[in-house]
Amino acid sequence: MNKTPLNVVVLAAGKGTRMHSRLPKVMHALAGVPLLGHVLSKARQLQADRVVVVYGFGGDAVPSAFTGTDVKFVLQEPQLGTGHAVQQAFAHLLPGGNTLVLYGDVPLTRVDTLKQLVAGSRGLALLSTALDDPAGYGRIVRNKAGAIVRIVEEKDASAKEKQIREINTGILCAPTAKLGEWLPRLENHNAQKEYYLTDIVALAIVSGTRVSACQPADNWEILGVNSKDQLASLERVYQLERARQMMKEGVTLADPWRFDVRGELACGRDVFIDVNCIFEGTVKLGDGVKVGAGCVLRNVEVGTDTEFLPYTHADGVIAGNHCRVGPYARMRPGTRLADHVHVGNFVETKATEIGDGSKANHLTYLGDTTVGRKVNIGAGTIVCNYDGANKFRTVIEDDAFIGSDSQLVAPVTVGRGATIGAGSTITRDAPANELTVSRSRQTSVPGWKRPVKKEKK
Ligand code: UD1
Ligand code: CA
Repeated sequence: MNKTPLNVVVLAAGKGTRMHSRLPKVMHALAGVPLLGHVLSKARQLQADRVVVVYGFGGDAVPSAFTGTDVKFVLQEPQLGTGHAVQQAFAHLLPGGNTLVLYGDVPLTRVDTLKQLVAGSRGLALLSTALDDPAGYGRIVRNKAGAIVRIVEEKDASAKEKQIREINTGILCAPTAKLGEWLPRLENHNAQKEYYLTDIVALAIVSGTRVSACQPADNWEILGVNSKDQLASLERVYQLERARQMMKEGVTLADPWRFDVRGELACGRDVFIDVNCIFEGTVKLGDGVKVGAGCVLRNVEVGTDTEFLPYTHADGVIAGNHCRVGPYARMRPGTRLADHVHVGNFVETKATEIGDGSKANHLTYLGDTTVGRKVNIGAGTIVCNYDGANKFRTVIEDDAFIGSDSQLVAPVTVGRGATIGAGSTITRDAPANELTVSRSRQTSVPGWKRPVKKEKK
């Protein structure tokens, strides 16, 4: 209850010129979520009491993408540096406690790393790390005793300072009250004529505040996105971490480097996922589920031992146990499969429930349809659910058999145990347990000859 308040300031005003895009940089997606969304989710996980995003380029595109959240957005115009950016946010912070500064384009910092930083901020706590190639970053300058004395930007650094491998990640945490003392004292007498947030280090030391630094467990935690290339590498970092986590929990992945989750994926025991699958939204796979190569599953929930054969698309689907779907099946929103259902190749379903043990194995469209138990739907069956203006339901009752290449013109009901002769166009209800056929009787014309080409003279 009486915990010290935590403010989070997210710097996101940079233009991101190297993205070559209309979209503000922080709106580019990583794992299906805008970069800024990842950063805001860290703030949430830290239970921040106040979150302020400093934005600039792209007008309202950034704030309007996050309406409905209690995040405050502050426009920084013009952009005069990281110190200037935090100055814009300061009036919106809760007094007291600590203020953590994050970058909107650095999406993968672990929450544990940030917790460690916040815990260390009796004084000013910096997140630093040693890089083999520190070029471009501000360097952490320490004295002989190893104490931090200041941060020097690459552009202001001497040749000797450029040798320093310990860099400033930019992420830091400071007591809010102290920050309020330091920010107005920043000056822009430097190579870039900017107000550097990093200059608060020297001010902290002058004011007798302890300055410390802690390090992330992995260097990818501090990487930012400035180009499409960097975005793609961080995407792979993220996905590989996800893959490792899944494997740790017992999921078998054919190749952790070819695995993409753009949302939430929960798996039971003994789940197998082949290469190049994409999981979007919320996907829940029961024990023993197998997902073949190239499947795209979005908002899908399936029971035990259900199998998706390769290249199946499923969106908005709930399926039971022991179902077999695909290869090349397309199941659209509102598809509900009971247990032991087969949906085969080039079968499309939409707003359709299929009962226990029923099968539609080949080349079929089922839209707005209720299929009972133990129904067999022959190859090439089409439900005509749309008359150009309205949609209607088709009901196929238990144990019905639909002959191949039939059309069921909705609204229509095929009764329990009914058989539809192949090639029928069914426009009226078909009675239970009877054979219904609607096609012309087969005739043969004795003595008929195929036409032959006339000889040209
Ligand atoms: C900054 C740090 C540097 C650190 C590096 C890490 C300063 C002076 N330097 O350098 O020590 O090694 O980050 O990447 O802080 N931003 C704004 N408004 C501005 C300027 C920047 O919101 O006026 C935002 C950017 O959108 C970005 C972040 O602040 O998210 C950092 O800006 P950037 O220009 O990348 O910082 P550098 O000068 O490279
Ligand atoms: Ca930068």
